[in-house]
Amino acid sequence: MAEELAVSGSTREELYASLLPQIKALIGDEQDPVANMANCSAAIREVFGFFWVGFYIVRDGELVLGPFQGPIACTRIRKGKGVCGTAWSEARSMLVPDVDAFPGHIACSSQSKSEVVIPLIHEGEVRGVLDIDSDQADDFSEIDLQYLEELCQWLSTILF
Ligand code: SME
Repeated sequence: MAEELAVSGSTREELYASLLPQIKALIGDEQDPVANMANCSAAIREVFGFFWVGFYIVRDGELVLGPFQGPIACTRIRKGKGVCGTAWSEARSMLVPDVDAFPGHIACSSQSKSEVVIPLIHEGEVRGVLDIDSDQADDFSEIDLQYLEELCQWLSTILF
């Protein structure tokens, strides 16, 4: 497929519905996880303009920064720490409307106001997370969760 997105829609739901099949087509039969996480984070950021979109991968008992789009970010996160480490330890998605109200939130940037984190679960184990930060407060809803969880379920089958 051509290396450009042709996403249509005006609501976030329409944009996700248009984007997800294009991410799957973009990845195609490529097997390299770094390449696929890189393009996936770029596609999400390009369509929605989020402040930061990226992956943390479980390596040697820590989450380690993976491919991302956006400003530089913290490299390692311990299990149970911050929003990402909590998504890992509890093996569930985290929707944080106000990062300042989340106990232990790890502030990689003061511009980040709200955040959504989805675990990548493969064979019953969290192997990484998709983390998205917005510079708008309360920017994420159940719609984001629904589509991002669908995306991450599929990603988990091809990344690991
Ligand atoms: N805020 C995250 C840390 C990662 S950055 O947002 C990219 C957290 O609390 O886990």
